[in-house]
Amino acid sequence: MKHVITLIPGDGIGPEVTESVVRIFKAAGLQIDWERHDAGVTAFDKTEETLPIALLDSIRRNKVALKGPVTTPIGQGFTSVNVGLRKALDLYANLRPVRNLPGVTSRYTDIDLIIVRENTEDLYAGLEHEVIPGVVESLKIITERASTNIARFAFDYAVTHQRKKITAIHKANIMKLSDGLFLDSCRAVARDHMDDIAYEERIVDAACMHLVMHPETMDVLLLPNLYGDIVSDLCAGLVGGLGVVPGANFGRDSAVFEAVHGSAPDIALANLANPTALLLSGLMMLDHIGERETATKVRAGLDAVLMTGAVRTRDLGGDATTTAFTDAICREVHA
Ligand code: NAI
Repeated sequence: MKHVITLIPGDGIGPEVTESVVRIFKAAGLQIDWERHDAGVTAFDKTEETLPIALLDSIRRNKVALKGPVTTPIGQGFTSVNVGLRKALDLYANLRPVRNLPGVTSRYTDIDLIIVRENTEDLYAGLEHEVIPGVVESLKIITERASTNIARFAFDYAVTHQRKKITAIHKANIMKLSDGLFLDSCRAVARDHMDDIAYEERIVDAACMHLVMHPETMDVLLLPNLYGDIVSDLCAGLVGGLGVVPGANFGRDSAVFEAVHGSAPDIALANLANPTALLLSGLMMLDHIGERETATKVRAGLDAVLMTGAVRTRDLGGDATTTAFTDAICREVHA
């Protein structure tokens, strides 16, 4: 079956890692018509828009997109394209499975975590203004609706994927109203699952320490947007770094698959990026569109290359280029 899928190469290492996934999927025999769209600075140079309407229309039409990272300027410049995209398509749920990969050494060997992050509100929405010179205000908006939606998503995921426990992560001791509302919403959903899923709560700072000391005791993590962003990178560090952790943004109508990592300007255009994180995001996408058999085949090819260890990128201790690593996986999936 032929699929039409929106492809956002992004910038920085984005074009390198997206091209890698496109090549591997082609080698695996998938028939995909990629509708390529720029976003961020690359789009602005051509259209004077950072999130072109044609891109949004393409995702609305195709329902599925694979996205490379997009740079957001620090402290100035345009607002985040990633935040804008998630808001525009109401991609309210961000799902990030964090697991050890075969052959990839890290400090831990038994990590199997699922991060479920609210994706549309909280401080991360970037609603800020200057009150008077020298004083700025950042608005932390938490709604019962969005909190309940993400809690339902997490519990539904736990039920369908045979997970045992959900930990809601918060700072409601200090932000009693906002994080308090998030917790109240999680508790209400948890009450409907008292018989099948265990539910606990942890304050975000203590949760970080616990994740580093006893990650094997955690299962599904349920977080508001900003804590979800930060804890995701912490969890990536448990399994070998940002080069190996995938993600997906789900809305009611469409889904955008992208790695946890950003545009990595320090290694951009150097053929050094590890495409594994985006490839794993792409495999989540294949599951989503019903191409499970091919996803399994590609996964086996990736695992074989990682296990052998002869060809690996610099972040995993090797010296292979993105291209060489991609070639090795293509050879495996061809076989
Ligand atoms: P980053 O994730 O781009 O990089 C952090 C570190 O991890 C760097 O040392 C980088 O070289 C390394 N790294 C990341 N991905 C890698 C990969 N695939 N292979 C090998 N090494 C990898 O985070 P940073 O530097 O904080 O952000 C850079 C830019 O990316 C910022 O403008 C940020 O806003 C943007 N960003 C975009 C995201 C998205 O589009 N979804 C997500 C996160 C950040």
